[in-house]
Amino acid sequence: MKIVMITGSPHKNGTSVWMAERFAEGAEMAGHTVYRFDAAFKTVHPCIGCDRCECGTRPCVFSDDGPELLEKLIEADVVVFVSPLYYHGISAQLKAVIDRFHGIDDLIRGTGKYLFTIITAAYPEDWVFDGVKATMKTTARYLGWRDCGGIYAYGCYRRADMERTDYPRQAFELGKHLERMVSQK
Ligand SMILES: Cc1cc2nc3c(=O)[nH]c(=O)nc-3n(C[C@H](O)[C@H](O)[C@H](O)COP(=O)(O)O)c2cc1C
Repeated sequence: MKIVMITGSPHKNGTSVWMAERFAEGAEMAGHTVYRFDAAFKTVHPCIGCDRCECGTRPCVFSDDGPELLEKLIEADVVVFVSPLYYHGISAQLKAVIDRFHGIDDLIRGTGKYLFTIITAAYPEDWVFDGVKATMKTTARYLGWRDCGGIYAYGCYRRADMERTDYPRQAFELGKHLERMVSQK
């Protein structure tokens, strides 16, 4: 399967990127292809709602790194959002990228892509993910994609905290057993 993974952290060696790497390792080992787009290190202008794109008919007014990702997204079977939890949502870097999906809405809606989400957070209780889980569920529903859940790793402020957990292994296993996960959806 073709996987598009979009990461949202500005930390090159942080907790969420570590999870992204492990997931990708597992997925590649199982024969999938992974295209990774690190939003924090790309230039992606936030959508300004001008609607020049007509949701997929015409190119976006911004010729930045957005179109490169969107082309890959159209082809993807699986999409993985990876982000640190920032004030109970995804990071602004990842949100800016997702908002640009508007430019190809008509091309990606109702396509049944499989959506996985990996979020890391410092707070030691899992209720902090309530908001972001609802957002992902709603986003998948709107797009007509299949929400496959993912990994919500709490109690991980820094990489050192994550080293004491099983989360990186879980990310690897999720990537490795992707085929089985999506077949249940
Ligand atoms: C701006 C900002 C907002 C944050 N908001 C939350 C939050 O709402 N809840 C939480 O548990 N952790 C929060 N954190 C902590 C990060 O989610 C946590 O440190 C995460 O592991 C960082 O991931 P990274 O290393 O991949 O960047 C926040 C951190 C920053 C910098």
